[in-house]
Amino acid sequence: MQWYICVLASMWLILTVHSELSSYSFPEDFAFGVSSSAYQIEGAAFEDGKGISIWDFSLHNNPDLVSDRSNGDVACDSYHKWKEDIQLLKNLGVNVYRFSISWPRIIPSGYKGSTINQKGVDFYSTFIDELLAENILPLVTIYHWDLPQNLQDKGGWLNETIIDDYLYFAETVIQLFGDRVKHWITFNEPFYICEYGYSEGSLAPFLNESGVGVYKCSHNLLIAHGRIYREYEKKYKTTQKGIMGIAINSGWFEPKEDNDSDREAAEQILLFSLGMHLHPVITGNYPAIMIERIDSISKAEGYTQSRLPKFTEKEKEMLRGSFDFIGLNHYSTALATFVDADFYNQPSFSYDSGVSATPNPSWESSIAQPGMQMVPEGLRKLLVWIKDRYQNPPVLITENGWATGEGLNDESRIRCINGYLSAVLKAIHEDGCRVIGYSHWSLLDNFEWLGGYRIRMGLVEVDFNNTERTRTPKKSYEVYKKIIDSRKLDV
Ligand code: BGC
Repeated sequence: MQWYICVLASMWLILTVHSELSSYSFPEDFAFGVSSSAYQIEGAAFEDGKGISIWDFSLHNNPDLVSDRSNGDVACDSYHKWKEDIQLLKNLGVNVYRFSISWPRIIPSGYKGSTINQKGVDFYSTFIDELLAENILPLVTIYHWDLPQNLQDKGGWLNETIIDDYLYFAETVIQLFGDRVKHWITFNEPFYICEYGYSEGSLAPFLNESGVGVYKCSHNLLIAHGRIYREYEKKYKTTQKGIMGIAINSGWFEPKEDNDSDREAAEQILLFSLGMHLHPVITGNYPAIMIERIDSISKAEGYTQSRLPKFTEKEKEMLRGSFDFIGLNHYSTALATFVDADFYNQPSFSYDSGVSATPNPSWESSIAQPGMQMVPEGLRKLLVWIKDRYQNPPVLITENGWATGEGLNDESRIRCINGYLSAVLKAIHEDGCRVIGYSHWSLLDNFEWLGGYRIRMGLVEVDFNNTERTRTPKKSYEVYKKIIDSRKLDV
């Protein structure tokens, strides 16, 4: 009898949850999009006056860095095939297209005050015009990892003079395209740029200043973000009527075991990873726990000053509230627990955080990228966490997606889209989160950094063995198109 009641109760629960979800729709002003970045799709790496980026330089000097020894020299050849891309976007029905502007294509030598490459300007200018002609809003990332190599030669993001170089580049693109671009993202994923680029050495420029580079780079990058945000506010916002944010990546962390210590570990790793960049942009400083831990660990290590630099009062004021929206890149969830002191090498970001984040074998893992796990509820919890902690700022999901191998029948990507968009709907309708849009990564299969072309993340397959880089929509393209069209989920 009891068993019978249990089954009935759970059937009722499933039906209620299902019917509630199918009655929800995405708000009218909710933006649907797809995302990409210059180095990953454009190709034409040495054409029309473009300068050399840290990715061109690193992968030509050391092809073994990438699993299939590939690089972005040709990529999807979007520099030549952009008209086809726009047709794919138009047919998909997206409201926005997120792409990045290649710094060395606009300012080949990188330096503040140096020559602007007219051919690069023309390329983006025409592209923006054509997007607008199809009613697709450009969502422009100013910096998505392709730093001019010249700037790296003087230290890159570790040298504070880069702030002025970045400002020159950013202001140049705002002056050139801001009459038509109304949505700006200053940086894509500061954590990846700094921790993997300058501390762990697993992304360009592949430097290994463990536990030091990550914070120096983040500090310079955050100041550059704050300065361009204030410049934009002061000089362009009223006339151009645009908005500006930053795209920060974050997973969600569940406690490894159901106990207070692991719950605390999950909170701590979130404050270290997401908090390192989000907290300053919202509050003006790093999370207190980061400051306390890094200051005291640095002291114990014998450093005369903390490895985490300090903001001046003026910088704090500049940074506080330096956003119109928060861009959130989210792919996965992990299990968190505190680790013993000898678990990580010192100095390092991981040691400073004191927490390990590992996969959960019972969650679905991507076959192409095993660390990526499909946990839609993680996105919902992350959105609620941001809402509760930071007075519900507007959040634009600037990336979310799923890694597969080749093939048009991408059922797992469809599960990802339905699952994560269900989580977004619940976050909006049941939790009151201000999610203003969702931009899927990515329109096309593209150069997935160290995963080369083996990892596929597109709604559209690209044949990288064909010089034409033929594009063929996958099953997920049709599913996403239907969702955009109905503004509902068919779940
Ligand atoms: C990056 C993209 C990348 C995507 C999928 C994000 O971290 O912003 O450039 O392709 O993840 O791996």
